[in-house]
Amino acid sequence: MKKEAKIRPFWYSDVWLFPKLITVITSLDEQGRINAAPYSHIMQYDVMTKNPRMIIGFRQDSHTFQNICATKEFVVNCPSADHLDDMMETARFYPEGVNELEHTHFTMIPSLHVKPPSIKECPQIAECVAEEIVKLEKSSGIVIAKIKALVFDEELIDMGREERIRRMNLPIGLGDEDRQDYFHTTLGHLTMHKLGEAPDAIRGSQVQLGMPWDADALQALMTIPPMVRKMVTEQTEGWCSSKGHASVSLAQFNAYAAEQGMTPEFMERFRRKKQSA
Ligand SMILES: Cc1cc2nc3c(=O)[nH]c(=O)nc-3n(C[C@H](O)[C@H](O)[C@H](O)COP(=O)(O)O)c2cc1C
Repeated sequence: MKKEAKIRPFWYSDVWLFPKLITVITSLDEQGRINAAPYSHIMQYDVMTKNPRMIIGFRQDSHTFQNICATKEFVVNCPSADHLDDMMETARFYPEGVNELEHTHFTMIPSLHVKPPSIKECPQIAECVAEEIVKLEKSSGIVIAKIKALVFDEELIDMGREERIRRMNLPIGLGDEDRQDYFHTTLGHLTMHKLGEAPDAIRGSQVQLGMPWDADALQALMTIPPMVRKMVTEQTEGWCSSKGHASVSLAQFNAYAAEQGMTPEFMERFRRKKQSA
């Protein structure tokens, strides 16, 4: 039997379980004073290299949101589970102008592209600049931000995902009770699922060509994962038209792909995965 739960204030964290990313966002106010606080209402927004973005939801009267409205720049720092106490310390309600990091074991280090500092102890960091700020009435403040840099502890960058997951040991937020008791979990059993091709995938990925394609350009198109092949076809043709070409050659296909960050080395990752699957 199922039963409808009452929707009360803070339903998203009180009754509904959203496993969430734990971050500490650092920002500066107009006088250059540092602020830090945890934020979990955060998601990747655009995934292509030309416009990587994050989207984040804030209480509109939070210092972090007000700082971002005023100075635009901020840093998303992901602490490991070893620093959950420090992360919680930054959530306490300190008056405006207090640097919460001074009440923690976190160390501030200069960021690479923005003015607010980064946190040394965080293995994964995104330096961001707000592009669009939405202030709906009686709602969260939404920030859509361009990612200027993704910064990691050096040894993590070339590590395989499984080893990286274990090494980073990021905590997973599971919400709170009464805005007082916050629940977190850390990595337990890790499962991995292979995304094989569905039996009829080839039919789903059939594309309608809007202009002639050279044979080698078509062959290159077939190396694109089926679920994005239609989108890539349309975008490539749009790009070729905008450049005054009436057909798609391999050189044009590669030039457009490279502009989107899909360099031959990047595409090689998909080919390798397919062969080993
Ligand atoms: C784990 C955790 C996640 C949080 N996530 C958010 C969030 O996504 N949005 C938000 O408005 N507040 C969030 N909070 C509450 C803010 O961190 C808290 O209100 C803080 O005092 C705000 O600080 P500031 O005014 O310095 O920005 C979270 C708190 C914790 C402990």
